Amino acid sequence: MRALVTGASSGIGEEFAVRLAEEGWDLVLVARRGDLLEALAERLMGSYGVEVGVLVCDLSEVGAARRVTEFAPEVDLLISNAGFGYPGDFGSVDVVDDVGLVQLNCVTPMELAHFYMPRMRLAGSGKILFVSSSLGFQGVPYMAQYSATKGYLVNLGESLYWEGKADGVGVSVLCPGATDTPGKDHFDIDYSKLPIKWMGVGEVVSTALKYVGRKPIIIPGFRNHFLSCIGGGLYTRRHVQRFMKVLYGRLGR
Ligand SMILES: NC(=O)c1ccc[n+]([C@@H]2O[C@H](COP(=O)([O-])OP(=O)(O)OC[C@H]3O[C@@H](n4cnc5c(N)ncnc54)[C@H](OP(=O)(O)O)[C@@H]3O)[C@@H](O)[C@H]2O)c1
Repeated sequence: MRALVTGASSGIGEEFAVRLAEEGWDLVLVARRGDLLEALAERLMGSYGVEVGVLVCDLSEVGAARRVTEFAPEVDLLISNAGFGYPGDFGSVDVVDDVGLVQLNCVTPMELAHFYMPRMRLAGSGKILFVSSSLGFQGVPYMAQYSATKGYLVNLGESLYWEGKADGVGVSVLCPGATDTPGKDHFDIDYSKLPIKWMGVGEVVSTALKYVGRKPIIIPGFRNHFLSCIGGGLYTRRHVQRFMKVLYGRLGR
């Protein structure tokens, strides 16, 4: 059995790679930092005797998904995890960067699923996990692009869950809340301004692996579950957005 993990050089993706190797999965690891991927691959092959292939690829580039599928035409599990986002006023970054963000967070995951899902359907088995975010359940002022792209994954994955079910293909969307990964240090943000309770990657990935293919939306942790119920409720969306505006506005626009 072979799993493909995008964004495996760090954080949630790295934890997926480790946990899957422990379970005996052969792996294909994709990200931009080849040195980190190679080191991880060596470690996993040495510790668990699995086969690990490494592809260095910028998934925000047009055509990236094709490079991935040419490198790994057959996989039994796709973890579409690589993603990114930045806080700030909409329009404050170059539009080229915003287009790249949509490519990374939406287009590449869609293209990967587009390639693998029909093959899994034909085989009558296979799983796909999109890594979205709790911020994908509603618009988030000052995180507009991030929440919009993650919302795309929620709707795409939820739809594909029902389409795949009849053919033996399990599709799920993982929606973590704040998770303690190196990703949180990409910005000069004073997190003490936000009422954040960080969850460990171990708990996030354990929950994901338990429910992948069995539930359309996977939300790790009771607190995140509760908050997402509020965020997803139609009647309260406006209130949640007001709250988010105050919250993310504090990060400095
Ligand atoms: N941490 C959180 O609080 C949180 C909450 C909700 C959702 N998420 C989501 O979880 C996923 C993983 O995030 P993380 O927290 O684990 O962050 P992270 O530690 O920064 O890891 C992000 C991974 O994505 C890869 N990546 C980023 N841009 C890429 C690109 N252009 N091409 C290829 N790979 C790229 C990075 O690898 P390279 O830099 O080597 O390319 C890295 O392996 C993301 O989709 C994120 O949106 C995170």
